Amino acid sequence: MRTIRCQVLLLSAAVVLLCSAAVFVSAGNPIRNFDWTVTYGQIQPLGVKQRGILINGEFPGPTIQAVTNDNLIINVHNHLDEPFLISWSGIQNRKNSYVDGVYGTTCPIPPGQNYTYKLQAKDQIGTYYYFPSLGFHKAAGGFGAINVLSRPMIPVPFSPPADDINVLVGDWYRTDHKALRAKLDRGHKIGLPHAVLINGHGPRSPPTFTFQSGKTYRLRITNVGVQSSLNFRIQGHDLKLVEVEGTHTVQTVYSSLDVHVGQSMSVLVTADQPAKDYRIVVSTRFVKKVLTSTATLHYENSDGPASGPIPNSPKKISWSIKQALSIRTNSTASAARPNPQGSYHYGQVNITRTIILESAAAQVDRKQRYGINGVSFVHPDTPLKLADHFNIPGVFQVGSIPYAPPAQPRKLHLNASVMETDYRTFVEIVFQNREKIVQTYHINGHSFWVAGMDLETWKPESRKGYNLNDAVSRYTVQVYPRSWTAIFVALDNVGMWNVRSEYWQRQYLGEQFYLRVFTTSNSLRDEYKMPEDSLLCGRAKNMKP
Ligand SMILES: *[C@@H]1O[C@H](CO)[C@@H](O)[C@H](O)[C@H]1NC(C)=O
Ligand SMILES: *[C@@H]1O[C@H](CO)[C@@H](O)[C@H](O)[C@H]1NC(C)=O
Ligand SMILES: *[C@@H]1O[C@H](CO)[C@@H](O)[C@H](O)[C@H]1NC(C)=O
Ligand SMILES: *[C@@H]1O[C@H](CO)[C@@H](O)[C@H](O)[C@H]1NC(C)=O
Repeated sequence: MRTIRCQVLLLSAAVVLLCSAAVFVSAGNPIRNFDWTVTYGQIQPLGVKQRGILINGEFPGPTIQAVTNDNLIINVHNHLDEPFLISWSGIQNRKNSYVDGVYGTTCPIPPGQNYTYKLQAKDQIGTYYYFPSLGFHKAAGGFGAINVLSRPMIPVPFSPPADDINVLVGDWYRTDHKALRAKLDRGHKIGLPHAVLINGHGPRSPPTFTFQSGKTYRLRITNVGVQSSLNFRIQGHDLKLVEVEGTHTVQTVYSSLDVHVGQSMSVLVTADQPAKDYRIVVSTRFVKKVLTSTATLHYENSDGPASGPIPNSPKKISWSIKQALSIRTNSTASAARPNPQGSYHYGQVNITRTIILESAAAQVDRKQRYGINGVSFVHPDTPLKLADHFNIPGVFQVGSIPYAPPAQPRKLHLNASVMETDYRTFVEIVFQNREKIVQTYHINGHSFWVAGMDLETWKPESRKGYNLNDAVSRYTVQVYPRSWTAIFVALDNVGMWNVRSEYWQRQYLGEQFYLRVFTTSNSLRDEYKMPEDSLLCGRAKNMKP
């Protein structure tokens, strides 16, 4: 798969050698090929027939099993009647935001066509997921798990489990995604979801997980839903947290865990109780009308059905903040590399810049919109990354979103907001939530340390409470109602990266922007060339990659 093509360009006095090695398929690492056909299909997770988005006929879609540094070659055939894009939540796509699969970086696959994503799980381990990023498709399916296992020579800080089980949980509407989208497009809200699904099953058809007495299982839990924070618990069984979005955590035992929308975590569960059935419970949090679904933990030699009350969900925000801050990095354990996770002392790096991001909900021209720092994101006709690459003017302007909330953050205006930050800077980002709902944010291309969170308003003195030692490093973080969360991020990945709310109707109506991690260098060490087979669209349609 390795081809190297070089071009010599004579630029005045300088001779520049540009090599487009097949950088996306790095030699020596295994290649895993996937051929996916995306179709509509009838599903009925809530007992009523509805249109779902299937991948190779499956809902949820197939699981990607990979090992650190594997090349993932995924040929996606779009058989829908509208453009389609898949994004890879937590896969960093280092130096290659072109394949990130969001509309700010990648052209959609037109109906009836196919496109082959070439990704690499470079220096990563952990639990992630993929999802369709356009057109509110996520409310119809098209998502699935990505498991990136450690290479055999890298130690994993727990014994191999008897089995490794993906548990995709998420809220769900029984309304067709096109109807939901039309409502949003008209400027209306879509109301609360109707139920919670566990691996595609609603409350009327609970799935069963079979365990053997005495054995320990790894459950990889991902919240693939469209807005709700969920609490996960199992009758009579402890959850030992071992991994969060690519970080091996201090192995703390919990009786229940919050999983916010877009987040992933792995827990170990030992079948150490009398052999019968138990209920696995997933319920929504921070809402008045709680939705609950269950699955069955079935012991292979079970004596009988699950009995007794289902365990209660915690209620208080302070409980959740305490739990969130208790999730820490095991500094001596390895992740994808042989060196311990704690060997990068993030707490000792000087902060180049502090960015404060505050969300708002408001009407613009009598339509519901959401925004960050006074700007509600609208997609221009051309992906930002392509406009940047081809120097197409008038698509976006750097600086179209401020680094801190303006005087009136609730007065929203529309823009294709792009914030610029320099490559190799170390940035503190404070998410300030003055709204009464819980929020969850994701940054593409980068993991970050969750340094602190608390109720009320962040102040510079809040830094005194930061965890500068063993905070967890992850991709997706919650911000509690009327609270703040502060993160540190090393901007070590050149490109155009989506920063978004995972609350999907808010994301759809503008609560997102792009972070342009910029360098003047044209070196392939810093950013790969645009893949030659990239799809082109908008004003980049007739350009040559
Ligand atoms: C489309 O799929 C065919 C095989 O099904 C493959 O040969 C071709 O390279 C794919 N095209 C793209 C752009 O990925
Ligand atoms: C941290 O990881 C090490 C392996 O490097 C393991 O031996 C230890 O038990 C772990 N500690 C905790 C508290 O999880
Ligand atoms: C951080 O900043 C301080 C004070 O400006 C300086 O003395 C120190 O060398 C810096 N540390 C690093 C790691 O750059
Ligand atoms: C977007 O922001 C830029 C920079 O602040 C500004 O020049 C431009 O006019 C804005 N576009 C719109 C449509 O408001």
